[in-house]
Amino acid sequence: MCGIVGILGSAPVAPLIVDALKRLEYRGYDSAGVATIENGHLDRRRAEGKLRNLEQCLQNAPLAGTIGIGHTRWATHGVPNETNAHPHFSGDVAVVHNGIIENFVELRDELAADGYEFQTQTDTEVVAHLVARELKKGQPPEQAAFAALKRLKGAFALAIMFGRDDDLIIGARNGPPLAVGYGEGEMFLGSDAIALAPFTDAITYLEDGDWVVLRRSGAHIYNMEGEPVERPRQQSSATAFLVDKGNHRHFMEKEIHEQPEVISHTLANYLDFATGGVKLFETPIDFAKIDRLYISACGTAYLAGLIGKYWLERYARLPVDIDIASEFRYRELPIVPNSAALFVSQSGETADTLASLRYCKNAGIPIAAIVNVRDSTIARESNGIFPTLAGPEIGVASTKAFTCQLSIFASLAIRAGLDRGTLTREDAAAMVRSLSEVPGLIRDALKLESRIEAIARKLSEVRHVLYLGRDTNYPLALEGALKLKEISYIHAEGYAAGELKHGPIALIDKHMPVIVLAPSDRIFEKTVSNMQEVAARGGRIILITDEEGASRTSLDNIETIIMPKVPEFVAPIVYALPIQLLAYHTAVAMGTDVDQPRNLAKSVTVE
Ligand code: F6R
Repeated sequence: MCGIVGILGSAPVAPLIVDALKRLEYRGYDSAGVATIENGHLDRRRAEGKLRNLEQCLQNAPLAGTIGIGHTRWATHGVPNETNAHPHFSGDVAVVHNGIIENFVELRDELAADGYEFQTQTDTEVVAHLVARELKKGQPPEQAAFAALKRLKGAFALAIMFGRDDDLIIGARNGPPLAVGYGEGEMFLGSDAIALAPFTDAITYLEDGDWVVLRRSGAHIYNMEGEPVERPRQQSSATAFLVDKGNHRHFMEKEIHEQPEVISHTLANYLDFATGGVKLFETPIDFAKIDRLYISACGTAYLAGLIGKYWLERYARLPVDIDIASEFRYRELPIVPNSAALFVSQSGETADTLASLRYCKNAGIPIAAIVNVRDSTIARESNGIFPTLAGPEIGVASTKAFTCQLSIFASLAIRAGLDRGTLTREDAAAMVRSLSEVPGLIRDALKLESRIEAIARKLSEVRHVLYLGRDTNYPLALEGALKLKEISYIHAEGYAAGELKHGPIALIDKHMPVIVLAPSDRIFEKTVSNMQEVAARGGRIILITDEEGASRTSLDNIETIIMPKVPEFVAPIVYALPIQLLAYHTAVAMGTDVDQPRNLAKSVTVE
């Protein structure tokens, strides 16, 4: 996490750096800072909290200088206060950092023994001191930075600036992404191409182990042996416009309402609604030939993968192993022959997902990714991608990316079923027809917003919530709980409805709302039996079902959200709507920061 920027410009750069940081705020918003060089001296402004605090600080005390570096922080080491905000200085050296220096304790002890005083609790400060110590030994800045970089273990994207040279920024990448941007007599460095979009679309992505020397005249890239390396220059498609909220109060609300449209676009990429078939889209995975598929992802993307597993196993009879990426990367599982791997990520930068991808790549199996950001590292390192056409997702809580991921999994299940001969053309056509109804069904579900808002107002008064579901509604129950806790800070758990009696039923009392996801499908009665068990113990039930489901329920005293009747196959895509709206309106009722909830970031580039 954290976003970093560096600019070698021709006019004062502080406002440009702040502009770039606004595009990077999704990477963290605990604190922010800018440093520039003016008359041979480093100067900086830093502020705790959101970027607007730094803007205020710069308004009160502007920074001059045509070279600068900036940072927006998601705290790893040290509380998010002004002292720990980047850039960090040591003498003539200024550093901004994204990632974690894993050997910082050892380096700090060594530097402290050498007389360096530490002002902050961060791991980053060791980098500034290491470079400063090399400079003191008489090394030129490039060599000083290189010597320091060789001492670092862990994950880092760095920008380093030297007070005495206002034509030099050094960048380095080992893990988190870093892009070099080329201008006319100007050069740029940024965590992603979106940050640099107002300045340039000519971009080079550094690879792991690269470091770069930037001067206004251009860039020279080296590897960790100090040898020059060539990296391709590409034209970025990142948009220069900061997406706005339109008439909505929050990005999350806007993104929830965009779903009919973005799901339509995404499905149209994979399916042919006219013929009821699947388009011949490129895939690095030959579904007919593999015996097993590994899926790995984090958070909401993982839960999309879990629903994907149910579909691929049911409709294509393809065995799927699914793991949370942070577990997958270290559990040393044997990768079987004739397998392939599929990674799911909105940002395409999640460190654990990327590490899992590399683990599978080393095993030599085909790699595909469902990604929203097409220029991302996960997209670039895959053999092929299935892009979600969700557009930029700004709200930290994933909504439209999730339903687009599900739309792709549904399309892949049909494609895999046809390729493996487990679905007939007629079966596939019926499934495509069901998917074609999804955008309209979601529009209908959005009409329930005022009813959901009324229920959410009551939810905002409780401290704990349980979500229950069966089959594909079980991962959705997990997603409902995740959405609620991350933006409303209410403790919520999702359970497989049948699992309730194996422990969590002990939690049920009149204070515990239990939200049950139960469309009237082939296992509806089973879920209703579990709901009866809750009711018998005085639990407060909120049932999300359809007319038929409601009429088949004999319980009084429950609240219902009556959804349109949905074909069973696509139910989890449509039932995502009420759980997103419940979380959203609960958070609004509680007055939390919906788009940038505390402690979170949109792109998680540390493990
Ligand atoms: C929750 C949420 C997160 C992300 C997770 C993975 O609303 O957004 O759980 O799903 O951090 O991020 P990506 O999809 O960018 O890999």
